[in-house]
Amino acid sequence: MSTKKLIASELASVIDSLDQEAIFNLLEQPKNSDMGDIAFPAFSLAKVERKAPQMIAAEIAEKINSQAFEKVVATGPYVNFFLDKSAISGAVIKEIIEKGSDYAQQTEGKGQNITIDLSSPNIAKPFSVGHLRSTVIGDALSNIFKKMGYNTIKINHLGDWGKQFGLLMVAYKKWGSKEAVEANPIDELLKLYVRINAEIENDPALDDEGRLWFKKLEDGDPEATQLWQWFRDESLVEFNRIYKLLNVEFDSLNGEAFYNDKMDEAVQILEEKGLLEESRGASIVNLDDVELPPAMIKKSDGATLYITRDIATAIYRARTYNFVKNVYAVGQEQSNHFKQLKAVLKKMGFDWSDDMIHVDFGLVTKNRQKLSTRKGNIILLEPTLQEAISRAKAQIEAKNPDLENKDQIAQAVGVGAVKFYDLKTDRRNGYDFDLEAMVSFEGETGPYIQYAYARIQSLLRKADFQPNAQANYSLNDAESWEIIKLLQDFARVIKRASVNYDPSLIAKYAISLAQAFNKYYAHTRILDESPERDSRLALSYATAVVLKEALRLLGVEAPEKM
Ligand code: ARG
Repeated sequence: MSTKKLIASELASVIDSLDQEAIFNLLEQPKNSDMGDIAFPAFSLAKVERKAPQMIAAEIAEKINSQAFEKVVATGPYVNFFLDKSAISGAVIKEIIEKGSDYAQQTEGKGQNITIDLSSPNIAKPFSVGHLRSTVIGDALSNIFKKMGYNTIKINHLGDWGKQFGLLMVAYKKWGSKEAVEANPIDELLKLYVRINAEIENDPALDDEGRLWFKKLEDGDPEATQLWQWFRDESLVEFNRIYKLLNVEFDSLNGEAFYNDKMDEAVQILEEKGLLEESRGASIVNLDDVELPPAMIKKSDGATLYITRDIATAIYRARTYNFVKNVYAVGQEQSNHFKQLKAVLKKMGFDWSDDMIHVDFGLVTKNRQKLSTRKGNIILLEPTLQEAISRAKAQIEAKNPDLENKDQIAQAVGVGAVKFYDLKTDRRNGYDFDLEAMVSFEGETGPYIQYAYARIQSLLRKADFQPNAQANYSLNDAESWEIIKLLQDFARVIKRASVNYDPSLIAKYAISLAQAFNKYYAHTRILDESPERDSRLALSYATAVVLKEALRLLGVEAPEKM
């Protein structure tokens, strides 16, 4: 139980006119620690009890069972609680030793499903930094929701459908070769796609041909289907290499194509509800009443669109997974799309549309410039991750040349650094992709936290420390108290991250915890003989457990040695 809860429950047993929750919400943290750790203001009771708040505070302080506290005193209208640091530190450390990585596991989401739409790159196109952000944020959210007790379904909604595949088939048949695609699938397919788009300028008939081939694909023509399948398979080989590096897995790869045969029903519902309007041959849903541009459901040639597939997708997810939340980790630039999507589903009468959450994020720049393929300002993900790994390796080489498994550790550090940097910023803000800052061992970085973790492990090895849940550990100095307060706060931080769809809260928490520990480490001779030696080691152990778990929630590994 958190100390605030404990205090609220103690207070509730001596206050009749307020329930525990109301009391909890009134609790304050005094500005000055001379005034205790937590204060209860008695003002709100004055009216009901018809007494001066000072008097009420004094009476409450008198009645409270103060065993769990160092002392409880009334100061003016406040009841001030001074926590018993020795007892609390012992209890927190004991709980962490007992529960290990299950510490701060919650049950709020038990039996409930959350679907997470994440990564979702487009077939035959390069995997962008936007897709990296989506992958990393979506994966972290999944871990956070699971820690809240939810069951999560991670869905990679591949962009594997649309007219562009028709164009690609035309281009491939005209200029492509099997060998070239197999050697460098995405590179080659992208070249073909760029070329046909350029040639359409002079030869508009190519566009019609592309449309025709997409129509063939939609109708299940064997040659078109086989080409499509091949483009998709080859692209996935490349994507899977990135997912392996990132150590991210999915529960479903149902992309846009999966909904090809599920759009008719969606369109039919729209028709039945009288929501479709004709506009220059196309079918649209008017969204004037919610101040959004109309959503185009079918083009004049009958072709479906991105949003048509997303409507079918959402319906499918609601039916298949009965979600309590349907989360989309997708860049800010699609915010109108998701507003329209929700609005259309709402009009269709699906109340669960309120549970669709667009977890949006900002743009990544490089050298403070917008990324642009045309201007050559691009980030190619695979080589960039490899570069992060080799930079990590160089630093490990310098710090610890005799380390075993250097390559494996360098991968955990390099990839972890990129992920952590992405996750520590408020996701709505973009950031500048700066590998040097990411992989640095100093500052608010992944490697800084990993290093703090590895340092604790080395300390524990030196001391040959064995944690013991039965032992009476206790500490009451100011610096260990800072760590204890953070350790105790972990569950609440996870809950906040989950409610706000915000992994950066976990990242910032991990930074604070690593910093608090490093401060403690710098000022305390942990290994020296002293009656507190075991408690200090136990505190170090507990810190390591929580650091590792915080990193795990972010999808970042914690090597034992670095
Ligand atoms: N493939 C899209 C893109 O790369 C992202 C898809 C996001 N998910 C969705 N259900 N619309 O922009």
